[in-house]
Amino acid sequence: EQIEKGGYEHFMLKEIFEQPKSVHDTMRGRLLLDEGVIKMAGIWDHVERFKNANRIIIIACGTSWHAGLIGEYLIEEYARIPVEVEYASEFRYRNPIITDKDVVIAISQSGETADTMAALKLAKEKGAFIYGICNVVDSSIARITDAGSYTHAGPEIGVASTKAFTAQLTILTLIAFKLGKHNGNLGNAEFMSLIAELDAIPKKIEEVLNTTHELTQNIAKDFVKATNFLYLGRGYNYPAALEGALKLKEISYIHAEGYPAAEMKHGPIALIDENMPIVIIAPKKGHYDKIVSNVQEIKARKGKIIAVVNKGDRQVSEMADYVIEIPETSECFSPIVASVPLQLLAYYIAVYRGANVDQPRNLAKSVTVE
Ligand code: AGP
Repeated sequence: EQIEKGGYEHFMLKEIFEQPKSVHDTMRGRLLLDEGVIKMAGIWDHVERFKNANRIIIIACGTSWHAGLIGEYLIEEYARIPVEVEYASEFRYRNPIITDKDVVIAISQSGETADTMAALKLAKEKGAFIYGICNVVDSSIARITDAGSYTHAGPEIGVASTKAFTAQLTILTLIAFKLGKHNGNLGNAEFMSLIAELDAIPKKIEEVLNTTHELTQNIAKDFVKATNFLYLGRGYNYPAALEGALKLKEISYIHAEGYPAAEMKHGPIALIDENMPIVIIAPKKGHYDKIVSNVQEIKARKGKIIAVVNKGDRQVSEMADYVIEIPETSECFSPIVASVPLQLLAYYIAVYRGANVDQPRNLAKSVTVE
């Protein structure tokens, strides 16, 4: 096991550090920058099915569901196809309306999640075209889908999903750009500039790992005794906030909630006092001015602000108690880059609390029962 951990103390840390490679592997052979194309046989062979879909329904659980939410933003923005995202466990029991004009995308790292499998079977029975985004090759979900794309992130051992999440985001990005290009919603110049930026994301992840590894350890030390956390983000980074909160709660056992930042005033703001740590994801591109006013509201109530901002940020950084800098990207890529320091922060808080990071209590890597 020590050898498999490659010198890291836990699989989770190893997997966090593998992300420059895993994201690159997810794009390998698919993103052909020199030729200016995205090659994805699974999508291309059924492109008309996607193009003519009434809607795309994304089905998943847990972290994969968070990836699905970002997938909704991506596909609606770039391909202009309506998307709905559902928890598999709800979808399967609520008698949903599904027709043969629907495309259902299941996202699952393990490819064995019982609820996702059951929801897919239901969609298939009703005639929907079903597409899988799985990490484990030849898994049950991969086998029952009509087509799909593997994430190729490599085996993920830590119960807390890290590299599988960023690989899922990478695949969803490729799908959104591919469909958008095909159906004419994404013009050539924008497509070219987006794929060039996507190609550079592994380097940006590497940079974030280098610049935030020590910093997140230092921040973590101050929150070992915390009992609650709020994670806030807007737009593409609202699901990234949900994911940051899930990472923290599952491995450190600290109660954490993710929220769209603007929803704060509809309830969670009542929780804010000098004892409430609030992680706020505030990159330049993506509702920055709105986030600034959310941060002002938190500051006025003395919340402890841990801000994830772009390098050189002033406005949010001046109000924050802790600042984590990430490189600037187009908004659609920011959840990939912003998630990395949040994974590290959750990891170190859990380690300093003495928790079993790779195998948290009550959790299994793949949930094969209801
Ligand atoms: C993530 O950290 C969790 N352990 C969990 O939410 C997980 O993402 C969920 O069980 C779905 O698993 P899957 O991707 O293998 O279907």
